[in-house]
Amino acid sequence: MIDIKDRWALVTGSSRGIGMRVAKALAEKGCKLILHSRKLEGTRDVLEEIKSMGNEVYAVEAELDSPTEVSRLIEEVKEITNDHLDILYNNAAIMTTYQPIFEPTVEEYTKSFMVNTIVPAKLCDAFLPGMIERNWGRVVNVTSGIADQPQLMPYSCSKAALDRYVRDTVATLDGTNVLMNLMDPDWLRTDLGGSDAPNDPDSVLPGALVPVLLEKEKGSGTLYLAQDYAVKTA
Ligand SMILES: NC(=O)c1ccc[n+]([C@@H]2O[C@H](COP(=O)([O-])OP(=O)(O)OC[C@H]3O[C@@H](n4cnc5c(N)ncnc54)[C@H](OP(=O)(O)O)[C@@H]3O)[C@@H](O)[C@H]2O)c1
Repeated sequence: MIDIKDRWALVTGSSRGIGMRVAKALAEKGCKLILHSRKLEGTRDVLEEIKSMGNEVYAVEAELDSPTEVSRLIEEVKEITNDHLDILYNNAAIMTTYQPIFEPTVEEYTKSFMVNTIVPAKLCDAFLPGMIERNWGRVVNVTSGIADQPQLMPYSCSKAALDRYVRDTVATLDGTNVLMNLMDPDWLRTDLGGSDAPNDPDSVLPGALVPVLLEKEKGSGTLYLAQDYAVKTA
């Protein structure tokens, strides 16, 4: 396990659910944090909590469905970190409502791909070159094990496309200390997962941090299952 103290980390969607837990866990490891949600109010409490831990922490707001706001987010992160982001945790996502097969609209597909695929890819595009130049970086893209649920097609297709982005980009990182991997949290009782999910949101840790704490030799392109590391209670 590597030391990530004083590394700059951006966690998208860190106002609640998995992202909030990941942000706090990174703060406990000594990272300097940039929190993100649609509105600054969303991350106010977690910002205060992390600040009280003694970490340097900032919050940025951006509606990820808006190309203008995404560009602004990238610029703000570059400004805060002096263009030195070390850890990119692409967590924010939306899920369409459960609906009859063949009925999702173009808008639902478009928004799902924008927030769940294009934005994570554009954040990678923005920050991977600097990481490669400095020969240090950890990128985690949060995916989903969703399968055989055509009622959620825009969501599952957008996650499959994100997996593809990772699969086809990692060869570029071969031999570097910049690692990019995927993390599947399994089905959790968050706002997105809903109350029927079998897993407590806290069970995403410590597994969600495993792809951040990897030694260089572990490489890129692996799917990490957070529940493989969860502490099971009887
Ligand atoms: N929960 C599960 O069962 C499950 C299973 C598999 C994969 N995942 C994946 O895990 C990740 C986190 O999910 P979660 O369950 O923690 O979700 P969540 O509790 O619903 O939280 C979603 C986060 O993403 C942000 N977000 C959503 N839409 C956004 C938008 N249009 N623009 C900017 N930010 C936006 C939210 O910010 P605001 O507070 O501002 O809305 C919030 O911080 C996602 O990638 C999801 O696909 C979850």
